[in-house]
Amino acid sequence: MKAHINGIDFHYEVHGAGQAVLFVHGFPLSHRLWTPMVERLSDVYTLIMPDLRGMGQTEATETCTMAMFADDLKALLDHVGVTEPVVVVGMSMGGYIAFEFFRRHRQCVRALVLADTRCQADPPEIVQVRVKTAARVLAEGSKVVADGMIDLLFAPGAPETLRKEWHEIMVASSPVGVAAALDAMAKRVDSTATLPQIDVPTLVVVGENDAITPPRDAEFMHAAIPNARLEIIPEVGHMSPVENPQRFADAVRRVLTDAIA
Ligand code: MLT
Repeated sequence: MKAHINGIDFHYEVHGAGQAVLFVHGFPLSHRLWTPMVERLSDVYTLIMPDLRGMGQTEATETCTMAMFADDLKALLDHVGVTEPVVVVGMSMGGYIAFEFFRRHRQCVRALVLADTRCQADPPEIVQVRVKTAARVLAEGSKVVADGMIDLLFAPGAPETLRKEWHEIMVASSPVGVAAALDAMAKRVDSTATLPQIDVPTLVVVGENDAITPPRDAEFMHAAIPNARLEIIPEVGHMSPVENPQRFADAVRRVLTDAIA
């Protein structure tokens, strides 16, 4: 589906009916990260799956911030007509956005799923890497990022078909959108102080072999968020929603069934 939101053409999908669950993908991915959730969760939930600004089929802008990503999501919920609080599921960069969404639109959040993500801001050396990578992407294309990330995304045993599919999705990302997202991540605030303020049911989920945001990041968040649950999915990497979609969907369903009457 298409919508003109906050001045840009936005692509998103909606599936199912019931409690709304907003799925926020990572960098530089697309709503397709969540496709395996449709057959597993759309029986009792409304799944809202956008392509973020500058990724997938959503228009890019030269500049972007975590606040803009979060406000795009709020505008999308308004466009779709969602009036009740939603469950926000954020993977990696989607988790960084989920923290910002929680701070800016607290009244819209019913529960949180923080997947393969971290709360800390980037240290200075990573900021420098992001700045250099953004310049290279603008000069040479998104393949720079796709080639650099592909081996970090998946556990060693992940099927070649998955690697190929996601390499192609990353290569096809808009260089302008990828560079803007790198800048947004480099400038994001540290969310550690937000953790004790999270007063909604929260699941922290991570792949056992996640090489980008390893289980110790998940354990740190789990310890600091009141009453959070932790799920470590064995034998998968950073792309847990596509590497083991059944375990991921089961964990989400379990926490939502318990938390939401
Ligand atoms: C992601 O998967 O969204 C990114 O790898 C996160 C990051 O680069 O910090």
